[in-house]
Amino acid sequence: MVQRRIAVIGGTGKVGKYIAETGLERGYRVRMLVRDPERVHKHLEGVELIVGDALNAESIEETIQNCDTVINTFGQPVRAMPLYSEVTKLILSQMKEQGIQRYIGVTGGSLTLVGDRKNLINRFGAGVFEILFSKMMVDKRKEHDMLKQSDLAWTLFRLPFVYEGPEQGEIRKNLIDMPGSKISNRDIARFLVEQIEKKTYFHQTPFIAGN
Ligand SMILES: NC(=O)c1ccc[n+]([C@@H]2O[C@H](COP(=O)([O-])OP(=O)(O)OC[C@H]3O[C@@H](n4cnc5c(N)ncnc54)[C@H](OP(=O)(O)O)[C@@H]3O)[C@@H](O)[C@H]2O)c1
Repeated sequence: MVQRRIAVIGGTGKVGKYIAETGLERGYRVRMLVRDPERVHKHLEGVELIVGDALNAESIEETIQNCDTVINTFGQPVRAMPLYSEVTKLILSQMKEQGIQRYIGVTGGSLTLVGDRKNLINRFGAGVFEILFSKMMVDKRKEHDMLKQSDLAWTLFRLPFVYEGPEQGEIRKNLIDMPGSKISNRDIARFLVEQIEKKTYFHQTPFIAGN
């Protein structure tokens, strides 16, 4: 059987840190875009590293070559000029060119969408983000709109506060409100890699949280 291959963007960040490792453990071949190979953990020897930039179409093109799935955990400081929609646009267009179907991305739980029924605390939190990080929220909404218009098999997971830590077990999922306040990056890695083969959340933007 041909070994399936995944591409990881943002795999040196807090959220994406264990995705490549988990992918290898689950039997995938992994390609990962990095700006600085020095930031890659030494034990990721089986990962094919592509040195480049997520804002460069050629870097994305090369990273996703011959892959079946793209996992995008690109991130930037909250006060930086937001580039989420820009990066996702490049990824989606390169995926289309190369005939790759499965896209798994992440965004913040503060993103509120039509149909959500957030509780008071989560509505308040989202409101604070809208005020303090308004440019980022506009860009995150733009990213979601782009995915909605895409005919790829996309899923965008909405995350609460992410911490460095071990797997805690069961992930809580909810389509209309955040089911918890935090999640470990090991739990995220396992959960996202499991979603590669699952159709449960195609074309959806679920909230997930740890226990
Ligand atoms: N952290 C949280 O608590 C949290 C909570 C909810 C949602 N999220 C969402 O999760 C996503 C990732 O956040 P994060 O906290 O993991 O961010 P992060 O720790 O800052 O990691 C960002 C990742 O993106 C990469 N990156 C940034 N600019 C790049 C570029 N121009 N080219 C290639 N790679 C680039 C970084 O690579 P380098 O190693 O080269 O810098 C790193 O791998 C974001 O969408 C964020 O909104 C995060």
